[in-house]
Amino acid sequence: MTSAPPQRWLITGVAGFIGSNLLETLLRQNQEVIGLDNFATGHRHNLEEVRQEVSAEQWARFHFIEGDITDLDTCRQACLNVDFVLHQAALGSVPRSLADPIASNHANITGFLNMLVAARDAEVSSFVYAASSSTYGDHPGLPKVEDVIGKPLSPYAVTKYVNELYAEVFARSYGFNTIGLRYFNVFGKRQDPNGAYAAVIPRWTAAMIRGDTVHIHGDGETSRDFCYIDNAVQANLLAARSQDSAARNQVYNVAVGQRTTLNELFAALRSTLAQNGVAYHQEPVHGDFRPGDVRHSQADIQKAQRLLGYAPQYTVGQGLAAAMPWYVKSLRQASL
Ligand SMILES: NC(=O)c1ccc[n+]([C@@H]2O[C@H](COP(=O)([O-])OP(=O)(O)OC[C@H]3O[C@@H](n4cnc5c(N)ncnc54)[C@H](O)[C@@H]3O)[C@@H](O)[C@H]2O)c1
Repeated sequence: MTSAPPQRWLITGVAGFIGSNLLETLLRQNQEVIGLDNFATGHRHNLEEVRQEVSAEQWARFHFIEGDITDLDTCRQACLNVDFVLHQAALGSVPRSLADPIASNHANITGFLNMLVAARDAEVSSFVYAASSSTYGDHPGLPKVEDVIGKPLSPYAVTKYVNELYAEVFARSYGFNTIGLRYFNVFGKRQDPNGAYAAVIPRWTAAMIRGDTVHIHGDGETSRDFCYIDNAVQANLLAARSQDSAARNQVYNVAVGQRTTLNELFAALRSTLAQNGVAYHQEPVHGDFRPGDVRHSQADIQKAQRLLGYAPQYTVGQGLAAAMPWYVKSLRQASL
């Protein structure tokens, strides 16, 4: 990516998967970055890894605030003199929200509203936030087009849809500039492979590297539009810097536009791991379908292409090939 004149960015959820990748890209572009995180699901080692990836001079342009977005004063402090907000902090995962809807609501709705108010009052130029493909809910149409959504299937989906409603109302009521990015199953380095709520790609990759059994929920014909992290980073930067009034106060699908079934994903992971020197010979075990899961998901990405100039650079296969060396290295290190 090209270098741009330095501006001041706030990344919430900076110690998480997507946040730390945004941080790495912006520091490489010599931008000034404020990061906010409470380490609910993010890790100090993600920040440490970014520090090792950038120069000392670039790292010196990063200022970290350990704090919680459910505290308005913390949000106000983080937004001071900021040009662009990339709001990623939230409790992800459909099953987590089914187990503890109050915690998801608190972080994802109260925290989101705090960030909107703080960013509005600090007069930031744009507020880009992590929305979600879960907002399509039970609508069966494929590919998913931004304007056509169904009913939410989980508390998590409710929280992400409420984010969109608040953002729209802030645009209408206060002339505030927001852009929502409906991520579709983003994957790549630093996505957490551990814990009960790990996403499918890091969870299966870790299981294969450790020689454990891979469990597939249902018949494996459930499908997703898996999106490599660099595509999502590109969408964030385009959205934040967009000067086009038609592009503002909108939500966009951020994906590749490809559909991969879980069975296909299993095969792709096995062969990509083999190319990285890891042989996995076990067959997956199929279990029950998971409550709250959408059966099929595939995005129409034309709106982001047209209004933001979004052009994903990685297919699923290319993304898996790019991500795999990191997983092999970090999981082998962890098991030493
Ligand atoms: N990864 C995906 O496929 C995907 C898909 C759709 C939407 N999203 C959304 O993208 C965003 C980033 O997701 P991710 O995959 O990087 O997850 P992640 O869990 O790795 O990152 C989220 C970060 O937010 C932080 N956080 C959580 N609650 C907080 C709070 N109250 N105050 C401050 N920090 C807090 C966590 O500690 C973590 O570092 C989330 O909003 C998520 O809902 C992700």
